[in-house]
Amino acid sequence: ILHTLLALVLSYLLGALPAAAWIARSRGIDIRTVGSGNAGATNVQRTLGWGPGLGVALFDAAKGAAAVLLARWLGLLPEWAAVCGIMAMLGHNYSVFLGFKGGKGVATSLGTIVAIDPLVGACVLVLGIFTVTVTRYVSAGSLIGGAVAVTTAAALGRPAWEVLLLLALCGLVVWQHRTNIERLQAGTERHIGKKG
Ligand code: G3P
Repeated sequence: ILHTLLALVLSYLLGALPAAAWIARSRGIDIRTVGSGNAGATNVQRTLGWGPGLGVALFDAAKGAAAVLLARWLGLLPEWAAVCGIMAMLGHNYSVFLGFKGGKGVATSLGTIVAIDPLVGACVLVLGIFTVTVTRYVSAGSLIGGAVAVTTAAALGRPAWEVLLLLALCGLVVWQHRTNIERLQAGTERHIGKKG
């Protein structure tokens, strides 16, 4: 139980490391006041360019994967390791270092999914990138990615705990994108790569 609690807390703190806010601050920018105002890789790409954007995406994905791997290393059951991945996502979305604000958890949850189930992660990545390429909306790719995670895991006959945890993760992604969904419906969503 102590190991489990330790892993959950460490996962939250790992996820809470706000790479987007820090890299923007190092360039004299408050990421929450530019573009979409989101402290995530997409908004960093929009504001600072592809290099920093991809760097933040990789760092944030690594946080999710590292939380799952750390939990496994501490000897936790696979289901608890997956919960640690979700804790990293919660840390990212509600970071103690940003006054309990943060990003939308897309990269972090992708890292988590790849670590839990690489095949499902690969499907999410391929279909997510395909959606972004076709629509030019990262938010659309993120929402499709969440749905792909749940449906692929169910279709592959994965254990119920995995499908349910992916459903929770997908629910969090949808919740975090509520304003994006409104903008997508209104036709005012920002395309990838465009400033402002
Ligand atoms: O990275 C999250 C992405 O799905 C949307 O980000 O900045 O366009 O709200 P943003």
